[in-house]
Amino acid sequence: MLPFADEGEPAHMTAVLTHLFAPLTIRGHQFKNRIFSTGHMTVMLEDGFPSDRMVAYHEARAAGGAGLIIVEAARAHPSGISSRPAILAFDDDCIPGYRRIADACHGHGCKVFGQLTHPGREMSEAADGTFAVAHGPSAVPNERFHVMPREMPLAMIEEIIAGFGAAAGRMRTAGLDGVEIIAAHGYLLSQFLNPRLNHRADIYGGTKGGQRFVREILASVRDAIGEDMVLGMRLSGDEMEHDALEPDEVRAIAVGLANDGLLDYLNLTAGSSAGLAGSVHIVPPMAVEHAYVAPFAAAIKAQVTVPIFVAGRINQPQIAEQVLADGQADMCGMTRAMISDPQMPEKALTGRLDDIRACIACNQACIGHMLRGFPISCIQHPETGRELEFGKLIPADHPRKIVIAGGGPGGMKAAAVAAARGHAVTLYEASRQLGGQANLALLLPGRAEFGGLIANLTREMELAGVEIITNTAIDRALIDRIQPDAVVVATGAQPYTPPLEGSEEAHIVTAWQVLQGEANVGSDVVVADWRSDWIGLGLAEKLIRDGCRVRLAVNGVTPGQMIPQYVRDKWLGDIHRLGVEVIPYARLFGADDDTVYLQHTLSGEPILCEGANTLVLACGHQSNTRLESALASWEGEVHVIGDCLAPRTAEEAILEGLRAGVAV
Ligand SMILES: Cc1cc2nc3c(=O)[nH]c(=O)nc-3n(C[C@H](O)[C@H](O)[C@H](O)COP(=O)(O)O)c2cc1C
Ligand code: SF4
Repeated sequence: MLPFADEGEPAHMTAVLTHLFAPLTIRGHQFKNRIFSTGHMTVMLEDGFPSDRMVAYHEARAAGGAGLIIVEAARAHPSGISSRPAILAFDDDCIPGYRRIADACHGHGCKVFGQLTHPGREMSEAADGTFAVAHGPSAVPNERFHVMPREMPLAMIEEIIAGFGAAAGRMRTAGLDGVEIIAAHGYLLSQFLNPRLNHRADIYGGTKGGQRFVREILASVRDAIGEDMVLGMRLSGDEMEHDALEPDEVRAIAVGLANDGLLDYLNLTAGSSAGLAGSVHIVPPMAVEHAYVAPFAAAIKAQVTVPIFVAGRINQPQIAEQVLADGQADMCGMTRAMISDPQMPEKALTGRLDDIRACIACNQACIGHMLRGFPISCIQHPETGRELEFGKLIPADHPRKIVIAGGGPGGMKAAAVAAARGHAVTLYEASRQLGGQANLALLLPGRAEFGGLIANLTREMELAGVEIITNTAIDRALIDRIQPDAVVVATGAQPYTPPLEGSEEAHIVTAWQVLQGEANVGSDVVVADWRSDWIGLGLAEKLIRDGCRVRLAVNGVTPGQMIPQYVRDKWLGDIHRLGVEVIPYARLFGADDDTVYLQHTLSGEPILCEGANTLVLACGHQSNTRLESALASWEGEVHVIGDCLAPRTAEEAILEGLRAGVAV
C-alpha cells in the first residue's frame, strides 16, 4: 500500500487556501491540514523530561489548529548528552511526558510525532559545563564549536543504532503517531553521510558505509514502532557550509532512502551546525527570503513518491499555500509562525488573515532564548511559553478607565491586553505615528519586516477596541483632567550622547538622525557602536552601500555581540563582503574635524581613525522619565514599562506591556 493519500478539500475552508486545508493521510494517519510545527527545542524540561509548561505550550498550538506537531529533538543515546537541554529519550521516564503532550494535542485533532537525534561532533560542552568528549564518524574537527571528536568505536555505533530503536519504542508506548529522525543540520547522521567527514575504514565508512548506518537506524526504528506509526527523516537540502553535504549529494541520499521504502516522508530544511555560516540557516533570520528551502524540496519531490515536508521562513498561510499549489511540497513547517501566533491555522481557516500576527524572523525570543538556555517565547507574543501564566486572559472585574502614555510596542501591547480584558483604554502617542523606535529599526537594511510588529500590535489594539489618539503628548495636567483609574507610562527613550573630548570641532550625528535622513554624512565615517546590537551593524551596512568608507568601532568583542547569533552572523558575513572595517574593543574617547579617537578597552592604548569626517553615535538610549516624575505625586495607579523604565529591546517592552495590561 502506498502510505500516502492526497485527499479532497473540506467544504468550509477559506476559498484562497484550498491546498493548505486539504487533509493528507500518511500510513493511515490523517492530518487535517498541511500546517505543521517542526521539531524545536523549547527549553521547557524538568530533569530532562517534558514539563507542564511544555505540555501547555504544545497544546496551545494544537488548539490553534496545527495539523501536526513534531516534538523537539530528543537524545536517542546517552553519548549524545550535551549542555543543550534535550528530552532524554533513552530513559523510560520520558514516556509519561510524551503521553501528556500526545493526549493534550490529540484532544484538538492534532497529530504528534517525536524527533530523535544525536549531535555527534556538534557538541561543545557536557551537561556540567566542562568540554565534552564528542564522537563523530572520524576525527575531523568542527569549526563552530572548535571540537576535535574521537572516532566512534564500533560498539558505540551498534549501541546508538539500538538506542534509536529503543527510544522510538518509548514514543510508541507514549501514544505518539510518528517518529522523525534527524539527518539534517550536520548532526551525527549527516556526519556519517558526508564523505568529507566520514573516513572510517570499517563497514560504516565512506558514502556507502554512512548510508548503511542511516539505514540500520531506520530499520531499528521501524522494528520498534511497527507498521502503524509514521517514520520520517529530516535532511538539509543544502547544508550551506564548508565541507558540508551539497544539494546533489542530499538529493541522491534522499531519493535512495525514500524509494527503497524506508521512509514515509522526508522533511527538508537547510543549514548545518558545523560552522557559523551554515548554522544561520537552522533558524533563518529576516534577511533570508521567505520559503527559500522550497526549491530544494521540489527537486527531491520530483524524484520520489513519499510526501515532502518543508520549512524555512514560511511565515504566512498565503506563502504556504503557494508552496503547496506549486507542487513544491506536501506539508509546510510553520514553526515560528505558530510561536508568534498559535492561532494562525484557525485564523487562516476562518478567513481572518488580517488578524494573523506574522512572525518577523527577528529570532530574539525563540531561538535567541533557546541558544542562551532560557525557555522560548516570542517578542510579539510573550504569552508564548508562558501559557500557564497568561494562557487565558482573565476579564476585568469592573471596567476601568485606563490611559496609556506612549504608542511604542510596550504601550500598544498594554493597551491591547487591557482593552481585551474589558477596560476602557485610550492610548496617547506624542508623534503622528504608532510604533516608537520600531519605526527606526525597520529602516535598517534587511530589517523592513520588523515593521510587521507595529502592524500586528495595531491590529490587536483595533480588535480589542482601544481608542488611539496620536499627536498628543500626555502631561500631568491632561491626567488631572481625564482622571483615569490607571496610567501606563510607556514614553520610551531617546539617544544617549556621551561626553566627548574635542567634540566642538567634529561632525557628529546620531544613529537616529542618519536613519531618519536628517544627517549630512561625509565620505569617511566612523560608527561608534557602544551597544553592539542591530543599530551599529545596520548603520555600517547602510552607509557603505551609500558609498562611504565605514569603520565600525565596537565597544565589545564583535559587532552584534548583544543580538541573536544567527542574525549577527548573517550580518557579519554581509558587512565583510561589503568591505566594512571592524575595530573591536573600542571605547569612544573623542573626535575632531578629521580624526576619531578611540581607546582599546583591554590594553588602554589609543586607536586613531584618521581621515574620518563624520562620527555616527550608536551609543544607546536614555529613558524619558518626565511623565513618570510628574506622576510621582499623583494618587492613581501607575505602571512604568519598556524603555522609559530602562532602555532595552522591544521584547522587554512588550512583555512589560502584557504584564501591565493584565495588572490594571
Ligand atoms: C527555538 C528553536 C529551536 C529549534 N530546535 C530544533 C530542533 O530541536 N530540531 C530541529 O529539527 N530543528 C530545530 N529548530 C529549527 C526548526 O525546526 C525550523 O526548521 C526553523 O525554525 C525554520 O522554520 P520556521 O521558519 O518555520 O521557523 C529550532 C528552531 C527554533 C526557533
Ligand atoms: S521572536 Fe521573532 S522570530 Fe521568534 S517567533 Fe517571535 S517574531 Fe518570530
